[in-house]
Amino acid sequence: MNKVSKHRHELRSVLITGATGGIGMELAKRYAKPGRMLILWGRNKERLDTIASLCCSRGAEVSPRQIDLSDGEAALAALREDEARHGLDLVILGAGLSDIKSPDQQTEDPAGVLKLALVNYATPVTLATAAAQSMIRQGYGKIVLIGSVAGFYELPFAASYSSSKAGLACFAQAANLAWRPKNVQLTLVIPGFVDTPMSQRLEGPRPFLVSAGSAARKIMQAIRVGQAELIFPWQFRVLRVAERLLPAFLRRHILQSLDVGQKEHARS
Ligand SMILES: NC(=O)c1ccc[n+]([C@@H]2O[C@H](COP(=O)([O-])OP(=O)(O)OC[C@H]3O[C@@H](n4cnc5c(N)ncnc54)[C@H](OP(=O)(O)O)[C@@H]3O)[C@@H](O)[C@H]2O)c1
Repeated sequence: MNKVSKHRHELRSVLITGATGGIGMELAKRYAKPGRMLILWGRNKERLDTIASLCCSRGAEVSPRQIDLSDGEAALAALREDEARHGLDLVILGAGLSDIKSPDQQTEDPAGVLKLALVNYATPVTLATAAAQSMIRQGYGKIVLIGSVAGFYELPFAASYSSSKAGLACFAQAANLAWRPKNVQLTLVIPGFVDTPMSQRLEGPRPFLVSAGSAARKIMQAIRVGQAELIFPWQFRVLRVAERLLPAFLRRHILQSLDVGQKEHARS
């Protein structure tokens, strides 16, 4: 039998994927408090140990798990195990990877595209669905998917990344229609540039950059009020409206002339 929160809005059990990353670590730190179980998933053992001890020192109970999310079946089994042990009140699916095709490549690397599609799309939507099943049974829960403003644009140098985030957005809209009436709130977070290792690898400007701490605060506020979609910083909300006025040929021209690179390939 699952553990069920006695108080419907008390987040006693919080699972975070990507807890070893810039945004995930900030969220884990901020959610850590006595009386709360933090289920922290990451791939890098050293960073996982660091964030787990920090959260313990803040009084939380911590259950860390080293896991590679490109194995979706293993991830699903792990979620079911954690859910049976601790229950799930809030599940934040923050893990993700990004990659940018260099100008000398004709296309992205197909093996990298497969991995990105699994980690950024296939596994998160699988875990969100499994979490929703359990939350519908317990009568309450919150799920968070982390998309990107890249999902608004057909980025020719990052087709797999931008489409993975667009796919998440479509999933989030459909799932919200299905799950909200059953008291499971899904929040889709759509960040612009956040100052973490992911964006620090980019070459070139990072307009409207926000700190990971500021991103975490905005995300926690959106979760608290059950917001369906959070786009930040605000400049990207304005751009979203303005770009709808652009003729299609001009939009294509701008996207094709964007010159973006990265310092090294994505961590595999
Ligand atoms: N930073 C930005 O500007 C920005 C903008 C828009 C959206 N986002 C999104 O925000 C989310 C968090 O990104 P971040 O900025 O915090 O990036 P980050 O610092 O690079 O962290 C990425 C996280 O994803 C985990 N991860 C990557 N591949 C994995 C795999 N195969 N299996 C398990 N975990 C894996 C990493 O684990 P390890 O470190 O343990 O390998 C790390 O915890 C991502 O979904 C990203 O797409 C970021």
